[in-house]
Amino acid sequence: MSAPGPAMPLAHLLTLDGVPRATLESLLDRAQSFAEGGDRRDCLAGTAVCTLFFEPSTRTRLSFQLAAQRLGADVLSFDASTSSTSKGETAIDTLHTIEAMGVRGFIVRHKLDGAVAELAARAGADTRVVNAGDGRSAHPTQGLLDMLTLRQAKGADFSRLKVLMVGDVKHSRVARSDLQALRALGVGELRVCGPSSLLPVDDGTLAGCRVLDDLDAALEGVDAVMMLRLQRERMDDGLVDSLDDYHRDYGLTAIRLRRAAPDAVVMHPGPINRGVEITDEVADGPQSLILRQVANGVAVRMAVLEALLG
Ligand code: CP
Repeated sequence: MSAPGPAMPLAHLLTLDGVPRATLESLLDRAQSFAEGGDRRDCLAGTAVCTLFFEPSTRTRLSFQLAAQRLGADVLSFDASTSSTSKGETAIDTLHTIEAMGVRGFIVRHKLDGAVAELAARAGADTRVVNAGDGRSAHPTQGLLDMLTLRQAKGADFSRLKVLMVGDVKHSRVARSDLQALRALGVGELRVCGPSSLLPVDDGTLAGCRVLDDLDAALEGVDAVMMLRLQRERMDDGLVDSLDDYHRDYGLTAIRLRRAAPDAVVMHPGPINRGVEITDEVADGPQSLILRQVANGVAVRMAVLEALLG
């Protein structure tokens, strides 16, 4: 007998900003049951979904496809580079074209902030849209899978946790979704560390965070370290002096990690710039949860698709 899916009071999942704690916890509970391998009912049998990606992806696209297949959906994969986008077709015309084929779920990635919300606003009433990452704004399912990974490692009571985020917060949609989720789930202490050129100012992203520019000091006693990728594709020239300097000041090494709590965990959304924000020794070491994050991506995306479309 299948357990009911989580209540989703939203037509689309575009951001974690403002999503109630109860909804987040319900989605995480459901994702946990999928992660444990139970209850893979065909709740999306007869439903067609499309991964509509206008930016590259490995983890997000493939895990959404696997998640949809495991729920019994028919899955289409749209890749802008091999589509009529190259002939000038707009994103909204593309969505309406695929909607006309009977597709009801869209998982959309776009380089422009707000582009996914705009597509959702112009989609048909029965269409459901999931933001798979837009610009530097939001990556809600990455935020959810990071919370699931942290919860599995450290328990559901986040109020006991000190969490440190390191690196390019300014250009990171993952950082924004993670910080929103951590705050909603009542994290005990949030620290952020990075060069001032890569930290956002005056947009509320760092609300409630203790901001430090010395990584060794920032690491003292933390329970989890969330490393971020340098988003060079979204960066103006000159924000980082050199990759060697960045690694010297903000790269996570095994020696530095000893300043964190002995059982601290290390996370990174991927893809990794090895030797820049994190060394091989840490990325592949016993405290790394990076591949656990990837595995949890499938379970979280099953929970989200079930809640929106099931
Ligand atoms: N973390 C993440 O979004 O990875 P991809 O770009 O490979 O999907």
